[in-house]
Amino acid sequence: MPDIDNVQSGKAYGIGTPQCSDGFYLKGSAHLDWGMKSRLAQVFSPKSGNTVMLAFDHGYIMGPTSGLERMDLTIVPLIEYADCIMCTRGALRSIVPPTCGKPLSLRYSAGSSILTYLNDECIMDIDEAVRVNAALLAVMVAVGDQKHEALTIRNLTQTVDLGTKYSIPTMGVTAVGKELVRDARYLSLASRICAENGAHVIKTYYCEQDFEQVTNSVPVPIVIAGGKKLPEKEALEMAYSAINDGAAGVDMGRNIFQSDCPSAMIKSVREVVHNGMKPEQAFKMYEELKQG
Ligand code: R5P
Repeated sequence: MPDIDNVQSGKAYGIGTPQCSDGFYLKGSAHLDWGMKSRLAQVFSPKSGNTVMLAFDHGYIMGPTSGLERMDLTIVPLIEYADCIMCTRGALRSIVPPTCGKPLSLRYSAGSSILTYLNDECIMDIDEAVRVNAALLAVMVAVGDQKHEALTIRNLTQTVDLGTKYSIPTMGVTAVGKELVRDARYLSLASRICAENGAHVIKTYYCEQDFEQVTNSVPVPIVIAGGKKLPEKEALEMAYSAINDGAAGVDMGRNIFQSDCPSAMIKSVREVVHNGMKPEQAFKMYEELKQG
């Protein structure tokens, strides 16, 4: 029982020492709620400000694509090297060990496949995101897609509203389509539209020309998707250039899990993203790790 007679008055008021009131290290995130910042800090390293997300949500539109036929064998061993995992709730519950201790970027919109119309999507119940302890809600946004632009922007807006109730940040994923050109003009338009509609993080593609225009015109962190499998050296060069041009990390799938040596690749990508390792050196590291 607390004894009221023995309660002593505190003396350690630190008079003369102003209370520390730090800002927040992520672009555009300083005014967010504590819960949002806490989740973003699980995803983006407070030390480097960057992230290596391991994306393996491809099956939600592509089925068992190369490298993801048996995710228990190919993906689970890579999780320890990722800062964050990006997957569907199906993959999460069926193969990801709940003990993995990694924040989750949950594939939050779905509804079509590569066989029909991409981007004809809806979003899931926010209770589901809370149940699986999501740190980020990933929603596809198809700017410029005549049929689905409005639908996907509504999905984004709704997700931001729902996530805000529980302080779960939203990642706007800029869609690709056959008719959409991946240049700086389009990528900054699509990314900016996501940010203006409330996305806290943007996933988009890297473009060789003027990518810094994309990162500079978007007020929140950008991570780049890897896209189709490239030779390892080129994928490391792309990651390096993206970080150099202002990206806050990668959300990479095929260039890791379709690599000749996925564990060597993700370790080398980490060096580029977190420690600014030059691509030539990172490729050397990849080759050495691959030899074992
Ligand atoms: C596509 O289905 C997903 O959103 C992927 O997570 C995204 O494209 C990143 O994977 P990759 O690096 O293979 O492009």
